[in-house]
Amino acid sequence: MNKVVVGAQWGDEGKAKITDLLAQEADLIIRYQGGCNAGHTVVVDNKTYKFHLIPSGILYGDKTCFIGAGTVILPESFEAEVQGLISDGIDVSLLKVSPLASITMPYHTEVDGYSEDNAKKGKIGTTKKGIGPTYTDKAARIGFKIEDLYSPEALNEKIDIILPLKNKMLKDVYGLKPYSKEEIKSLCEKYAEIFRPYVCFDWQEMLNQNKKGKNILFEGAQGVMLDIDYGTYPYVTSSNPIGGGAATGSGYGPTMIDEVIGVAKAYVTRVGEGPFVTELTDEIGDKIREVGHEFGVTTGRPRRCGWFDAVTMKYSVLVGGLTSIALTKIDVFDNFDEIKVCIAYKDIRDGKIYTHYPTNVFIHKYLEPVYETFKGWNEDISEVREYSMLPENCKKYLERLEAILEVPISIVSVGPDREQTIFKK
Ligand code: GDP
Ligand code: IMO
Ligand code: MG
Repeated sequence: MNKVVVGAQWGDEGKAKITDLLAQEADLIIRYQGGCNAGHTVVVDNKTYKFHLIPSGILYGDKTCFIGAGTVILPESFEAEVQGLISDGIDVSLLKVSPLASITMPYHTEVDGYSEDNAKKGKIGTTKKGIGPTYTDKAARIGFKIEDLYSPEALNEKIDIILPLKNKMLKDVYGLKPYSKEEIKSLCEKYAEIFRPYVCFDWQEMLNQNKKGKNILFEGAQGVMLDIDYGTYPYVTSSNPIGGGAATGSGYGPTMIDEVIGVAKAYVTRVGEGPFVTELTDEIGDKIREVGHEFGVTTGRPRRCGWFDAVTMKYSVLVGGLTSIALTKIDVFDNFDEIKVCIAYKDIRDGKIYTHYPTNVFIHKYLEPVYETFKGWNEDISEVREYSMLPENCKKYLERLEAILEVPISIVSVGPDREQTIFKK
């Protein structure tokens, strides 16, 4: 069975926990998009591991972990992550990087930082990891790929084409320092050494070998609502976290995908700017943030919190191609008398009701949530391991969610640890 794990909201849904769980059964794990903007937390036996780019499946030691062509890689961040794992005693010998992955150059992070720091209007609130500028250059066909690092003639030619364009832009548009050819060459030499043990030139053979009789897990970063094509554009990342992204970013086509598991929290969080109809700026939002420890893994920023939004979730089910949902962090509601779920939006200008997600985010400031309210269970569920043992109010809430979303909830997560999981039939 080949499965994709997709974030179904605005990221940080607990994807890494679910990926880690499903990785148990997998032979090959492929991260298919994004870069070190991601912050993925896995808790095993009370030890916390934080990942940015490397698939968390590496913890098992016997799974091939492949970073696919759809990703962008900041070499220094990759190196630090690998070194961190090695010093934790993790075997990284099965870590592989696609030669087709794109490289984030220092000017990409500089431009990202500059754009964020100087935006008077339209600030995105990016992670400043150079993600947008790297994907921009990839699409403009002036990016560097890992394979370029090992081909001196091609690299030399590429630098001659790319560098004058980049320098003009750095100087004239951003007022930033230009780079000399020697600087870029010596950076590329350094990067070649960083990636040398991991770059997988025989990736076609490796993917072919894993085609039959093996379990492949496709690991997404970010979430559907941050997707460049389907998210709350322009307040999105620059890649395709949706299920379809696994087909373009991994090297396998869509025919290789059997299931797409959308990971969603029992509430919603978002970091960075952009619309968020169910956001709670009151003490309930603070309580969710505090109980759920909602602070970013990559940037440490407090996450904006709000009630579960079934309108965007139904949209995620559609465009994400979700076949089931893993619902995480329901334990965060253990001490809540009431839990709300947004089932529609109401336009405050004319009372128009939206039950389908309106993609024009510029009207979102006029939308207010229409809620369905559920009774809380006021009970600690973090030790529950069987669905039937959950409190009645909790089951009612889950079953109603399934009815609203018209997709089964296959996994219920009641705590950060691997063990704190209920597989629902
Ligand atoms: P990701 O980016 O989607 O992998 O998620 P993050 O790692 O950024 O954030 C999810 C956080 O929630 C992490 O700290 C996880 O350890 C934690 N977590 C995951 N599932 C659960 C759960 O069911 N309950 C609780 N309380 N925490 C969880
Ligand atoms: P994981 O994989 C939450 C957000 C940023 C910003 C927007 C664009 O841990 O779920 P970028 O640096 O990608 O250009 O920023 O996307 N963002 C995330 N939010 N979780 C993430 O990853 C994110 N990766 C990017 O905060 O709003
Ligand atoms: Mg995260």
